[in-house]
Parts: sequence; structure tokens; C-alpha cells
Amino acid sequence: MSQPIAVITGATSGIGEIGARAVAAAGYELLLLCRSPDKGEATRERIQTEVHDAAIRIIECPMDSLAAVRDCAVQLARDYPRIDLLINNAGTAEMQYSRTVDGIERSFAVNHLAHFVLTWHLLPSLKAAGDADGARIVHTASEAHYVANKDFLDDINWEKGRYFVFRAYSNSKLANVLFSQKLARELEGSGLVSNCFHPGRVATNIWPERRWYEKLVIGLLKKFYLISPEQGARPLIHLALDPDMGRRNGVFYFEMQEKDIKSFAKDPALQDALWNKSLELAADYLD
Ligand SMILES: NC(=O)c1ccc[n+]([C@@H]2O[C@H](COP(=O)([O-])OP(=O)(O)OC[C@H]3O[C@@H](n4cnc5c(N)ncnc54)[C@H](OP(=O)(O)O)[C@@H]3O)[C@@H](O)[C@H]2O)c1
Repeated sequence: MSQPIAVITGATSGIGEIGARAVAAAGYELLLLCRSPDKGEATRERIQTEVHDAAIRIIECPMDSLAAVRDCAVQLARDYPRIDLLINNAGTAEMQYSRTVDGIERSFAVNHLAHFVLTWHLLPSLKAAGDADGARIVHTASEAHYVANKDFLDDINWEKGRYFVFRAYSNSKLANVLFSQKLARELEGSGLVSNCFHPGRVATNIWPERRWYEKLVIGLLKKFYLISPEQGARPLIHLALDPDMGRRNGVFYFEMQEKDIKSFAKDPALQDALWNKSLELAADYLD
């Protein structure tokens, strides 16, 4: 069998980088989608220091532009008719309200919609690998989905209420869970599985540290409360590489324990509603 292929977003730091390193060590060729090629090259060097023979391709792909994600995904699908593993991991928590070039609130756009477009274009290659030997999609979600607003699809752009970073982030993470569940339903019985996880509260760059008091609080949290990226990446590595998890579909890991998702996230109607909203918002980028 030729070398298996893994596509990973958000691998330039934190949970994604540790996960990518483990996937390389397991023998996969890595296709790392990064918004900064320089950061991507630095990540490649760090991974290759640990995994000397790692095959790594850096692909520029800003996840806040649906056109860029579409172009990147279409090219990947052409270059790789077979993809064994997709890790949808890139994420952001936006302190200030802003919209992307596509006019969509940034955390929903980056954390969910960009990954929807990416996955859409890679599905044929993932299914090809799934039919042959099994393939996996892993989504980095969050415990934050438990406190999301189940009606968030009614106001993606926060036109009806005041923007609140934690709620926007939670809603985008609910979208990750719903998307994982919808794919799992659609793919049931095929060789391709879709699972998601909460990594724990992890000391990474996602925590805002711009102002002096944020630096102080986050610094203390990182020292005394948050877990390391190595610990946070454990469920990702488990879902991506554990042989038994290749046969599990639609599960949610909370750190290293399988756990129930929020009750309304199990609702197929809500999963379908997100799917349909995503089709509508990304309509120009799915061909
Ligand atoms: N840390 C936690 O406590 C925690 C808890 C639950 C879930 N998560 C989830 O874990 C995932 C990974 O985050 P992390 O904690 O490891 O934080 P991180 O170190 O900040 O990693 C985030 C990754 O996403 C990339 N990214 C962000 N915005 C992007 C954009 N517009 N285009 C392309 N790439 C972009 C970053 O790239 P750059 O290097 O270019 O910034 C980086 O590689 C996220 O989905 C997050 O929601 C984290």
C-alpha cells in the first residue's frame, strides 16, 4: 500500500501541531493547510526534528476566505484521489466582532464554514480511501458546545443581538458537533467515519493575550490550570490513529472519555438545518 495521506488544518501550533507530529510518526504524508507559509515551514522543521523522515507538504490556505479554501481543496482533490485522514482543527475565538471577506461572522466562518467547504471537496478522495481500507474525519470541537444557543442559525451574523465572544465561539463549536454528526449519519455503513472531540482546557495560542491583564490572567491559567498541548492532543490522536476508532462513527470524546453530546445536538433536524444553511452560505464555492 502507498503512504497514507492526512490533511490537517490549524497545525502551526497547539493541539494541531502535536496531532500532526503523531500522525507523521504513524507513517502518513502530511498536507498541512496553513494561513502563513512561513509558520508552516517552521512547523515542518519542528516536526522533522522529531520525526526525521516525515513527508510534509505546506499549502497556503487562509480559512477566512471561502474562495481560497475552495481553490486549495479543489487542487488537493485533483492531486490526491485518495485521502485517508482529514483533521478539521483550525479554530479561532474572536474577541471583537468582525466579518470575513465573504461577509460572515469570523468565528463561524473559520471554525465551521471553511471546514464545510474543505470537507465537501475532499469527500470523493476520502470516500475512495474509505472504500479501499477505511478513512476518517476528525473534528476538533469543544465542551463549549454544551452552552451554545440552539437557535444560532437564525442569526449567524449577530444582527439581532449584541456580540459576545464566548457565545459566538460556543455556537461555532456546536456547528462542529452538528457537522460531525450529520456526516456520520450520511456515511453510516461506508468505510469513512466522522468523529469529534473536546481536547480539555489547553494552554495554546487560542487564549487571548493582547492586553496586559489578559496576559496576566492567561499566564496564571496556563501555569496552574490549563493542560499542555500534548495532553490536549491525546483524543485527537486516539480518534485519528487508534485501530478500533476506525470502526466507530458519530462519537464525541471529552478528553479521553466517550461522552454524550448536548441533547439538542443529536437532533437530525438541527444537523440538517446547519447543512442546508452551509450549502446556502457557501453556494458559490462548492463547484
Ligand atoms: N485550547 C483549548 O482550550 C481548546 C478547547 C476546546 C477546543 N479547542 C479547539 O482546538 C482547536 C485548535 O486550537 P488550539 O487550542 O490548538 O489553538 P492554537 O494554538 O491557536 O491553534 C489554532 C490553529 O488554527 C489556525 N487558524 C486560526 N485562524 C485561522 C485562519 N483564519 N486560517 C487558517 N488557520 C487559522 C492557527 O493558525 P496560526 O498559527 O496562523 O494562527 C493555528 O494553527 C481549535 O478548533 C479550538 O477551537 C481548543
